[in-house]
Amino acid sequence: MKTRITELLGIEYPIIQGGMAWVAEHKLAAAVSNAGGFGLIGGASASADIIREEIRKAKELTDKPFGVNVMLMSPHADEVAKVVVEEGIKAVTTGAGSPEKYMEMWKEAGVKVIPVVASVALAKRMEKYGADAVVAEGCESGGHIGSQTTMTLVPQVVDAVSIPVIAAGGVADGRGMAAAMMLGAEAVQVGTRFVASTEAVVHDNYKEKIVKAKDIDSEVTGMSNGHPIRVLRNKMTREYLKMEKEGASFEELEYLTLGSLRKAVVEGDVMNGSLMAGQIAGMIHDIKSCKEIVEEMNAQAEKLMKL
Ligand SMILES: Cc1cc2nc3c(=O)[nH]c(=O)nc-3n(C[C@H](O)[C@H](O)[C@H](O)COP(=O)(O)O)c2cc1C
Repeated sequence: MKTRITELLGIEYPIIQGGMAWVAEHKLAAAVSNAGGFGLIGGASASADIIREEIRKAKELTDKPFGVNVMLMSPHADEVAKVVVEEGIKAVTTGAGSPEKYMEMWKEAGVKVIPVVASVALAKRMEKYGADAVVAEGCESGGHIGSQTTMTLVPQVVDAVSIPVIAAGGVADGRGMAAAMMLGAEAVQVGTRFVASTEAVVHDNYKEKIVKAKDIDSEVTGMSNGHPIRVLRNKMTREYLKMEKEGASFEELEYLTLGSLRKAVVEGDVMNGSLMAGQIAGMIHDIKSCKEIVEEMNAQAEKLMKL
């Protein structure tokens, strides 16, 4: 399946692995790129030195292109933005803000810029600033979310911009991928499915929770304070939602979730950790290698699309 995204990124299959905080480190990114997709290292709030190290480790594992997700609200965003240039990174996805101030530097260095957007207005703004593509992310996704569903957001963004659109949120097999392509997307970005992959350096307890999740097992915390996050229901979400209902302050809620993604990913604390995962977790019943995920997804999509 050749699209403007496979061209832009120099990849075999139009499948991008989400740059997930804590989860998307060098092993996962390299495995997805080696499988013919596009792997991303999740920058999150990590320092520039850590990101540089992650990039170099990924380079040891793959000679295929991969990218970095730059979290623009990170206190280290300025340095990380420079590191991706110095390390010759093929593309960045950006979240939590506008990448405008880095655009000139990245463009000059030939780094492709792909902001993650949750609305038509933001997609148009990013195109105006010179983005090469956008990820239109629906609220089915795991992690930080907007308010539109993938089904409604993707075609509206496709109609509004002329740069290629990557659909994210709720894609975990070839059916979802084919559906996204039918909506006009030219690639998909996949998060939750890759958390439950062999290569993801994620505690087994967390992977197991995804494998066992049912369709209705995710919750959205943080609606009241404007920071909605989709996670699997557990002790932490029950407490969080109760406190939200009782009108707890942002600070109190922040305190409850301090370091909670790390707790889930590294310590396997499935009671108090933040088990970020999308609604599609209910459809994931096994842990597979990235190669199996990418190849099966693409083959099923091609079959359905009669390519
Ligand atoms: C554990 C986890 C952490 C995530 N962290 C980030 C992040 O740091 N930056 C980002 O842009 N997206 C992040 N996301 C969103 C993914 O990159 C991707 O867009 C999303 O998971 C796609 O939806 P899906 O989970 O239904 O596949 C995260 C998702 C998960 C599941």
